[in-house]
Formats: sequence, structure tokens, C-alpha cells
Amino acid sequence: MTANPISIQKTKNPKNRPSADSLGFGRYFTDHMFLASYSTQKGWHNLRITPYEPIPLDPGASVLHYGQALFEGMKAFSHQDGSCVLFRPEFNWARMAEGAERLCMIAPPKEVFIEGIKELIKVDRDWIPSEKGCSLYIRPTLIGSESFLGVRPAEEYLFFTILSPVASYYGEGTKAVKIWVEEEYLRAAPGGLGATKAAANYAGSLKAALQAKKNSYSQVLWLDVNRQYIEEVGTMNVFFVFENEIVTPSLEGTILGGGTRNSIITLLKSKNKPVVERRVKLQEVRDAAANGTLKEIFGTGTAAVISPVGELAAKDWKISVNNGEMGPVAASLYEELTGIQNGTVKDTFNWLYKI
Ligand code: COI
Repeated sequence: MTANPISIQKTKNPKNRPSADSLGFGRYFTDHMFLASYSTQKGWHNLRITPYEPIPLDPGASVLHYGQALFEGMKAFSHQDGSCVLFRPEFNWARMAEGAERLCMIAPPKEVFIEGIKELIKVDRDWIPSEKGCSLYIRPTLIGSESFLGVRPAEEYLFFTILSPVASYYGEGTKAVKIWVEEEYLRAAPGGLGATKAAANYAGSLKAALQAKKNSYSQVLWLDVNRQYIEEVGTMNVFFVFENEIVTPSLEGTILGGGTRNSIITLLKSKNKPVVERRVKLQEVRDAAANGTLKEIFGTGTAAVISPVGELAAKDWKISVNNGEMGPVAASLYEELTGIQNGTVKDTFNWLYKI
């Protein structure tokens, strides 16, 4: 328990819960939310679970003007024995704390972050779907809430967490997605916010993603500032299975260090698979596709889990990967990761946090 008590006000009007086949991703929210407030005078205070409802926000709040907003993506799973677990909550807390440092924000302490989410999930635990491929997606969010107009870091923050029962992120489910290689717009530059889960990174990505969707591509693959090296897909990190090694772009300050990315590297290393974090040239991938040494591409993310990529395309070229299907490396990693999360594979890495 936190030294700071959490008050709980339950809803008088519980919602009807959606059926698993209608979930999609992020369309429904549970009955309650967790909030905590920060001010320089009081520190973190007023920890509360309330009915899910609109948040009162002053029109002068710094998040609305200077974009002080960070979020996380996590998941909770229900196990067959009736227990429920969070997957690697400390990883998400640490990443929010690092992002907050970069955006000059005040992150909630670890116990506020984890205990708040844990208590919220206890209140809404009936919302965790138990169907295969489904989970409860958790969206912790930190915003600057102080009202002022001079450009400086806010001195008041609101941390809140909302929950959404979800199925697959992509409409394709676990089928391969088609990805557009973005050669015009840029997600991040050295020295910028690329390594953080700042809301601004997603605002900047929407135009390219929209154009890709119009052409039937699910997402974009971002390149570096010189449009030579591969960085990440809009909603996931990316792995390339070459004949002799499995490669993912190294974290050089412009890529978001994903929790699933980290878990997959750990799983591969534990099996002595040749996984390498290094810079990857787009041309290297195109050459490997041409000479037959590119075996698979897959993306990793909390929402995306492990999503095979069946096609990469840009203005004047296109490559098909593993005949547009999920390959054996992605398939076995998917089974192992989701098995750990769902409690059917032993959690030897201590990734599960019992609620
Ligand atoms: C996640 O995978 O948790 C994300 O935040 C990606 C996207 C849904 C924004």
C-alpha cells in the first residue's frame, strides 16, 4: 500500500460490458479511473478512484498549450485460476519517469503509479476479458495541469489511468500487416523527443499514417533524419529475421524503447538465438529481400503484441516478406510471450505482477 491513501468512489451506473467479438482496440472504457494530483506545495496528493467521467481542466492548462503530455501502454491478464496479473509495470513506470525528465514534468513515484493501477484493476477486474487474444489495456497518462501562459514547465500535474478491454490492435489480427516506408515525413530527430512516449510524437505521426491507410497500408515505417536507417513502425518496434541473425534497430535516442521489444530480446537471448541491436539500413533490408536472406519481419508493442509484416512498400518499390504470412520465429515468440502473459507458460523472468 502507498503511504498516501487511495479514496474509492464507485459508480452508481455500471456500464454494460461489450462482448469479446465486438472489442476491437480502445473502443470501450471500464467503469472507473484512477487519478493523482501534484503541486509543488503538496507533492503527490488526492489519490482517488472515481467513476469514469470527463476531467475538469482549466483552459490555461499547460498540456493544452505546450503539450506537456506523456502516456504509457500496459496490459492486465486474467488467469485460469481466477487471479489477474500486470505485465512488467515497473518497466512502464521507469519509462514514464525518464520521459518526464526529458519533458521537465514531475512523474508519479513508483508506488503511486503501481498501487493506483493495481487498486483500479481490483475495482474493475470483471472487465478483464478472458477470451484468447484479449486483455485489459491500461493507459497511464501524465499531463501538465497548471494554468498559465508563459513558456515554462508546469508546477501542477495530473496523473490518471483509464482501462479498456481489447482484442487485436490491427484489424488483421495476427495476420501479416502491410507497412509503408515513410520517406517524406519524419518522426524524430537526434536530440528530440523520439525516445519518449510523448503525446506529441503521435500527433506528428498522424498525417503519414493517414496517407498510408488511404493506400491500404496499416502503418508507416519511420526512417532516420537522412532517410537511410530504419527506426520503428508508428505503433511498434521492428525486428528483421535475416538468414544468420535477428536484428532490431539499436536505441540511439530517436526510437522508443518498447517493453515488448525488450521482452523479445530477452526471450531470444535466453534461447541463445543470434539477436543483435544495431543500426539497420533500409538498403540492407531491400538487398536481403532480393537475395533471399530476409526471412521475416515482425513488429512488437504492448498493443500490437507481435505482428508479422507481410509487405514493405515505398513510392517506387515493394517487397513481399515470407509470402505475406507470419513466419516461424514470430509465431513461436508470439506463443511464448502470450503464454507467459496468460499464465500457461512459466514466467521464468519474473515479469508478472500479481494483483
Ligand atoms: C502501445 O502499444 O501501448 C501503444 O501505446 C501504441 C499505440 C496504441 C499508441
